[in-house]
Amino acid sequence: MALPDQFLQELKLRSDMVDVASGYVNLKKRGRNYVGLCPFHSEKTPSFHVYPDSNSYYCFGCHAGGDVINFIRGIENLDYMEAVKFLADRAGMQMPEASFDNSLSKLRGRILELNRETARFYHRCLIEKEGREGLLYFRRRGLSDHTIRRFGLGYSPPSRFALTDHLSKLGYTPQEQIQANVAFSSRSGHLVDRFAGRVMFPIIDLRGNVIAFGGRILTDGTPKYLNTSDTPVFQKSRNLFAMNFAKNTRDNRLLLVEGYMDVIALHQAGFQNAVATLGTALTQEQAQLMARYVEEVVICYDADDAGQRAAQRAIHFLRDVGVRVKVLVVPDGKDPDEYIRSHGEQGVVRFRQMMDDSDNDVQYQLHKIKARCDLSQPEGKIAYLNGAAEIIAQLDNSMERDVYAGRLAEETKIDRNAVMLQINKLRRSREKNRQKKEFREYQQQVTGMKDAVNPEKFHHLRCANAEEGIIAFLLQGPSDREIKAIWQALPPEKFRTTFNRRVYEAIMGRLLTGAPCGLTELSGEFSSEEISAISRMIAKYSDGALRYADALEYSTIIEQEYLKSRAENVTDASAEDVQSYLQTLKEQKK
Ligand code: UTP
Ligand code: MN
Repeated sequence: MALPDQFLQELKLRSDMVDVASGYVNLKKRGRNYVGLCPFHSEKTPSFHVYPDSNSYYCFGCHAGGDVINFIRGIENLDYMEAVKFLADRAGMQMPEASFDNSLSKLRGRILELNRETARFYHRCLIEKEGREGLLYFRRRGLSDHTIRRFGLGYSPPSRFALTDHLSKLGYTPQEQIQANVAFSSRSGHLVDRFAGRVMFPIIDLRGNVIAFGGRILTDGTPKYLNTSDTPVFQKSRNLFAMNFAKNTRDNRLLLVEGYMDVIALHQAGFQNAVATLGTALTQEQAQLMARYVEEVVICYDADDAGQRAAQRAIHFLRDVGVRVKVLVVPDGKDPDEYIRSHGEQGVVRFRQMMDDSDNDVQYQLHKIKARCDLSQPEGKIAYLNGAAEIIAQLDNSMERDVYAGRLAEETKIDRNAVMLQINKLRRSREKNRQKKEFREYQQQVTGMKDAVNPEKFHHLRCANAEEGIIAFLLQGPSDREIKAIWQALPPEKFRTTFNRRVYEAIMGRLLTGAPCGLTELSGEFSSEEISAISRMIAKYSDGALRYADALEYSTIIEQEYLKSRAENVTDASAEDVQSYLQTLKEQKK
């Protein structure tokens, strides 16, 4: 159900965009507006803008934008109604009755219940007779009963209908089971367990909800692990396995490992700060999540090539969010689980020692390069120097650069100034490349080449830009007279791009009846991405330079483009159409 206008108006008044964003971003005033580092992507120069006049925001880097509701949706990972509720709570307002009906939040609530029930079912199966195989497996891997209970581990029986029968009996519809991704529909239309015959790892979010599952096969079959795909309650790129436990660690660091079993083995051994990604490489969102809780992350991936490449990528994301990074490479190509178990009593002590002694990210990268170069030969020494300079040049902190450059000079017996010279040269060229890239992105954005929300834009640039000008003008709060005049001159059919036409209709639908209209009022009808696109239109004219005369100009452009498009279609038009087209042309000339 739609929320009453009056409620949204008040919510907007009480949820100042600058105020709300300040909770997440360090904002600095610039002219009438505010800027800061964008919380939606990682960047070093601020491109996130907040516009108090329209109570909106826009990032010129990643194109996220919208009103307060949209902001909260994105940053708190909530759906529309939940975001409204979040802001209402914050403002001390009561949600209107029954507004939660039919919304996505109802479905989410249902799936979370279903997941919890599923986790209980798997766990019961594991400790009862039918789960014997699974229980033996976990025991073989050294897990205690306490650990099994603490992680809520389970077993999904090999019968392909054990879970679905159970859930169906409890009243969960096939649709719900499929949406939760615990079942799928077979070709013959039967509902089938997705994880049949696997030991199960429930994934719990920070609020204690069961949001997904990982399941390991007991044989050598593939895939070894099967994970829940993204569902209405789960995005694998935003969650970490065992973060629900690790966030309470008193340690100011997290231990990032590759697998479920590594995490569990480490927790059992007393390292309650171990977490893992969910079958994917580390994402920026996961790095941000970690940065909220600790200042240091120790990456401990497998020693093989794949693991080390993944470590490299993780270093990059973690550095970007400002945590200190260390890298622990476990000896003998073992993973942490194997290492601890194969060293008995000593395993834990040794592992802790290795963790404390591990290299920081810069040392780690320098060592790796050095290992590849033969320093006794001039070519080897040059290769090492160049590689090392590349790494040092990436450091943003000048003191850090100075320290490592000094060490490198000493180590290789090369003049320190020569080292610094090379580093600075690399930095200048990096900076140039960055600017080039930024400019290219800016160009693409300006020309609309990259517009996913309005794919027609690129083919009708002149018209689409004029359409956006009209939309921006209408959202600025024009007078009734101006609104009527534009509506008269510009019926929606004349818009060439479908998306802009939809926006225009939605706005006019409100303005013509005297209802208020801004991003907040539109955000019930448009998706997050669409609201971002609309806020981009506003951002383009945020300097207040858009006048009624400009709107009329845009209207004329749209009219011209409309006539042009009819001329293009004239070959397959009826005689009457052609007549009326010629007539319009004549009138235009007068
Ligand atoms: P590994 O193959 O290193 O698994 O994959 P592991 O944790 O050491 O597994 P065990 O010890 O043999 O049980 C590391 C992680 O990659 C994901 C899982 O999250 C796994 O824990 N993965 C791996 C998958 O999602 N699917 C796969 O098929 C394999
Ligand atoms: Mn393993």
